Amino acid sequence: MINLMLTSCTSDIAPAGASDIPVNAHVADELHASLGAPQAWISPKFLYDSLGSKLFEAICELPEYYPTRTEAALFARHGAEIARVAGAGSTLIDLGAGNCAKAAALFPLLAPAQYVAVDISSEFLHDALGRLRQRFPHIAMEALGMDFSQQFELPARVTAARRLFFYPGSSIGNFTPDEAQAFLRRLRAQCGDDGGVLIGIDLVKDKAVLDAAYDDALGVTAAFNLNVLRHVNTLLGADFDIRAWRHRGFYNAARGRVEMHLEATRDQEVRWQGGARAFRAGDCIHTENSYKYQQADAVKLLERSGFEATRIWTDPQCPFAVIHAQAIPT
Ligand code: AVJ
Repeated sequence: MINLMLTSCTSDIAPAGASDIPVNAHVADELHASLGAPQAWISPKFLYDSLGSKLFEAICELPEYYPTRTEAALFARHGAEIARVAGAGSTLIDLGAGNCAKAAALFPLLAPAQYVAVDISSEFLHDALGRLRQRFPHIAMEALGMDFSQQFELPARVTAARRLFFYPGSSIGNFTPDEAQAFLRRLRAQCGDDGGVLIGIDLVKDKAVLDAAYDDALGVTAAFNLNVLRHVNTLLGADFDIRAWRHRGFYNAARGRVEMHLEATRDQEVRWQGGARAFRAGDCIHTENSYKYQQADAVKLLERSGFEATRIWTDPQCPFAVIHAQAIPT
């Protein structure tokens, strides 16, 4: 269905009319490489500028998008037990905190000694944490606006004891299984033997359910996906014409993952600071993978990464797992 043939990079002429706003060099290098690759791609982390974070919030309200609702129901139903297993008074480190709503819902039971909210969408995060501080003035909070998908270092103001990494929503699915293992190992390296993870992992299910969840009737997911081009226009001074692209979101059963792509609806050339590329109608830019796991494979992944699952909560109606795993002592 998707034509993955792409024409190659055609020009290194400075684009006419591209903005002169200085671009972050790391971000620019990363995007130059991925947009110039034989199969063009954009890292899913670039989906989250302020508007992207809001569009993702809207996705979470869609009837077709089951993960947020299913996971919230698991937290609500098993909250007391989750708190018992994970333990109160931890240093709760929320990776990809977004609007911080999931962690906030657990505060009454989990009662963290410190709450550390981490998100690449820095402005959105700071707004959310500002509101949260007013609701829970007795909990010490830190906001860290940073990209944690690669190597990352937690600053010294993050308490070292009893770190509980909170990684809900199946965000782990954005990584390939190998990348996920490397990521979880980095978490293991950043917590002591008294640390752990509380993670939400989406499980393999019916293709029709997955297809609908990532290509909803209202077109919110389409807007979320297309918004990455707006963001790249800002980040790179690029001139993507958003109207010349369409959203694709579907489950690729052979690879065990949902894929999002943007498909060019006509031949075009896109220019950005320091580069350009021709796209033919039907060419695709790969923007996201969302891996779906078998429960046993999720447990093995944690184990290979230095964490032992202590308890798993699942929804039998809509396969999704919340797992608490503790650091395997070294
Ligand atoms: C935030 C990565 C978990 O993969 O389901 C939602 C992002 N993409 N709809 C997911 C997303 C399209 C979401 N994660």
